Amino acid sequence: MDKIVIHGGVPLRGNVEISGSKNAALPIIIASILTEDVCVIENLPCINDVSLALDILKHMGASVRMLGKNTVEIDTKNVRAGSSPYDLVRRMRGSSYLLGAEIGRFGHAHVGWPGGCDFGVRPIDQHIKGFEAIGAKINIESGYIEATTPNGINGSQVYFDVVSVGATINLILASVMANGNTVIDNAAKEPHIVDLANFLNTCGANITGVGTDVIKIKGVKKLHGCTYAIIPDMIEAGTYMIAAAATKGNVRITNVIPKHLDSITAKLEEMGVEIEEHDDSVIVRRKGELNRVNVKTLPYPGFPTDMHPQMTSLLCLAHGVSYVTEGVFENRFKYVDELRRMGASIKVDGKTAIIEGGHPLSGAPVIAVDLRAGAAMIIAGLVATGKTEISEISSIERGYDDIVGKLHSLGANIKKIQEPDTIYLPKAN
Ligand code: UD1
Repeated sequence: MDKIVIHGGVPLRGNVEISGSKNAALPIIIASILTEDVCVIENLPCINDVSLALDILKHMGASVRMLGKNTVEIDTKNVRAGSSPYDLVRRMRGSSYLLGAEIGRFGHAHVGWPGGCDFGVRPIDQHIKGFEAIGAKINIESGYIEATTPNGINGSQVYFDVVSVGATINLILASVMANGNTVIDNAAKEPHIVDLANFLNTCGANITGVGTDVIKIKGVKKLHGCTYAIIPDMIEAGTYMIAAAATKGNVRITNVIPKHLDSITAKLEEMGVEIEEHDDSVIVRRKGELNRVNVKTLPYPGFPTDMHPQMTSLLCLAHGVSYVTEGVFENRFKYVDELRRMGASIKVDGKTAIIEGGHPLSGAPVIAVDLRAGAAMIIAGLVATGKTEISEISSIERGYDDIVGKLHSLGANIKKIQEPDTIYLPKAN
């Protein structure tokens, strides 16, 4: 069993380079299915979710060749619909994009129910609403979602009832080669959606309006392959910004798009952290005490839900009472119990965490209950006195490229250890 062990108290200093965006890489890898051609994707993060997405494509008949640590060549000519293995698909949320990609290319799909972090109920009714609007018939049975398009895929106007990253991406994938035009109203505006559309447009698609809440897709007959570089990961960047602020550090974070970090930068500045923006880097410095603030997570350009647990760790260090309200998911507070083990004073009332900051954090054995919760444990461990031991770190490795190596290079006392699994034997009589 792998664990991350941290001895806290070292201010982070130096440079750290941000990897490609997980949430852009996954739909773009899967979108390559639509091209029936060779795509070269660059700036891929080395994370388990990307390996999993590539494994799924290989099982479906794609030829996948790494051209370096961060570049992959994918040839999807021989991909077959309905051939993604259930046990791989159920391990990540991004596998839901197989539905849109299979509908878009083959006119039918058969995909296992997607998995991902447990934030309460994560329905796919809006994905289905989108597919049905363009002519799909959907049937859910025995853990699988099946789609057919008896009268073809026909462009349509769809108004989403909730702003959903996944539903927006899936409808783009399914309709990019539809007959006629599709308009998505109340679309999500996240930078990874813009990145997906840029990739598809480079392959010959005709998508406009991405980054606004109305996306227009003119169906094209065919897509071709291309070479495309993924945007930097704004959540990884935000996590290092918070780690630097928490440890009273001074860190230059490179390979970022500062505009994507606006909501995080604004909140950190409100807390008294100094942020210096450059073309493709930000410098984060903290000298004094932190101010308490309130945060509400929202779809982009609001404060990202994927920065919520990390922000709570930081607010444990700010004197006074801060409120973090979750505005996207039903339940994202499972990490709070783990922070309490380290001495944090946090109450949860409905969708709000009430944090009484200023209580000293002390190292403890904790669990990474999900991906960003794991990042929050690391941040708390970096400032806690003594030793923090984080287990179940596979959640962290799903989405952070070499987080231990990157933090170590910034001076943190952090390492990954392997321990044999504990086996509890029954007591002898
Ligand atoms: C994606 C990201 C995840 C991020 C989230 C919000 C990936 C692989 N995952 O998840 O990291 O936290 O966006 O930025 O990119 N909803 C419905 N019906 C639906 C779909 C969604 O009610 O059909 C609800 C969800 O339950 C949630 C909200 O809409 O409350 C937003 O979810 P959504 O944007 O779809 O998140 P994901 O695409 O699952």
